[in-house]
Amino acid sequence: MKILFAASEAYPLVKTGGLGDVIHALPRALQQQGQDVRVILPAYRLVLEQISDMRIAGWLRVQGASRIHDVRILETRDHHLGVPLLLVDAPDLFDRPGSPYVHPDGYNWHDNADRFSVFSRAVAQLASSSDILDWKPDVVHAHDWQTGLLPALLKLVPDAPASVYTIHNLSYSGVFSHEEFSHLHLPSEWWSAEALEFFGNFSMLKGGIVFADRVTTVSPTYAQEIQTPGFGYGFDGVLRAHAHKLSGILNGIDQDIWNPATDHYLPEHYSVKHRYLAGKRANKQKLLEQLGVDAGDKDLDSPLLGFIGRLVEQKGVDLILEVIPHILDNHNARFVILGSGEQHFENALRELAALYPQRLLLTLGYSEELAHRIEAGADIFLMPSRFEPCGLNQMYSLRYGTPPLVHHVGGLADTVTDANTENLKNDTATGFVFHEPNAATMLATLERALDLYHHPKPWHQLVRTAMSQDFGWTKSAAKYISLYEEIS
Ligand code: ADP
Ligand code: GLC
Repeated sequence: MKILFAASEAYPLVKTGGLGDVIHALPRALQQQGQDVRVILPAYRLVLEQISDMRIAGWLRVQGASRIHDVRILETRDHHLGVPLLLVDAPDLFDRPGSPYVHPDGYNWHDNADRFSVFSRAVAQLASSSDILDWKPDVVHAHDWQTGLLPALLKLVPDAPASVYTIHNLSYSGVFSHEEFSHLHLPSEWWSAEALEFFGNFSMLKGGIVFADRVTTVSPTYAQEIQTPGFGYGFDGVLRAHAHKLSGILNGIDQDIWNPATDHYLPEHYSVKHRYLAGKRANKQKLLEQLGVDAGDKDLDSPLLGFIGRLVEQKGVDLILEVIPHILDNHNARFVILGSGEQHFENALRELAALYPQRLLLTLGYSEELAHRIEAGADIFLMPSRFEPCGLNQMYSLRYGTPPLVHHVGGLADTVTDANTENLKNDTATGFVFHEPNAATMLATLERALDLYHHPKPWHQLVRTAMSQDFGWTKSAAKYISLYEEIS
């Protein structure tokens, strides 16, 4: 089957979070199962700079907010992605410095509605005929708000491919004003509660929910949660109305990139069958040294608690901030934190790091290398997210033998098994799970984890069970293929 993935990021070319990882790994997994997959992205400056071998496949005329754009479709055999890559080149909109969504000064690009509607229009035109590529997809698979208009636009075209729309995070819903709606030249009947209108504004993500042939989200539990007001961000009603076409398919991880036995970022390799204790200890030592701690045996014996992620409310950063002083005042432990995000969280972490030098090891910024080293060198990984559509870091940490401590929501609930007495006895425990998102509950769970850490026998069993889990893409890719087959 021919499948076109349309998204706003794909690792390693452009990534701001887990979406980028998925748009890298899922197309490859589908290809390995015999599918003909291509990925299409906006031609951001950052992406063009990384690609050497490109050809112009053709031109499209695409309606934008203020004018019609002559858009180049670029095609590359570049192997960054492992599947053929297409780019929508509209330099006015995408040839800019910085991140895909934000100006280098930190605010959203003022014309994001225009940028991603032009991208979606270009993909809809390209996917509806084989004129340019000599290739017409059977299914277009769109992701997140940036491509929410795409399933809707496809419904306007005769002979268009079927569409699947995946929600990676409902809290980013591409909401814009009525004024922007009118600038985008969208059909006026879409301004309705049954279509794109959303509490007096309009939402691109809602277009995906309403018009796609199938809607998925990235874990079974999140698919249920988002149909309730507590997790629905205002979309629970429309999701319930479209529940017949909604399902949850758990993300996988790329087990080649995230493999402690071969990971080129790690100073020492290890696996569950080979030197995992010594390997993790050596990684911990190097990590501590890299972060300025001259680590002796005592330091290596004391637990290292890791966190990597966007510093936003979703990730439960406020809970971590509350828990840190309690732990550091009462236990011989350290934190290693890597992240960037909201200013007030960055400032609060900076202040705490100044209070606990050498014990709260803080890196504000983005580093792929440090992320891998923390996964390997930490003993416990913290992921107290208030909501989590799937989450990848908890799966990376399981594979790296770093039991995760998680709040029981979304994909975290679907991937981590609590180390309670019974699960420890049956060898099914893989981490620590708490149910109430408050600092007291998280602290009690973390103290339970620290207690177990000091009991080597059950701890080593926990680490082995965690490392033996299989979160590869094979099963989930097969589920997507069944879904594509139902609609094409
Ligand atoms: P989300 O997509 O909500 O941010 P996920 O857990 O699905 O959460 O994926 C986050 C991805 O981004 C992981 O690959 C993680 O390692 C990476 N990541 C997040 N913040 C950073 C950072 N500051 N440095 C390096 N990698 C990061
Ligand atoms: C989103 C979610 C995260 C998920 C990722 C990839 O960014 O916040 O939970 O793992 O998308 O699907």
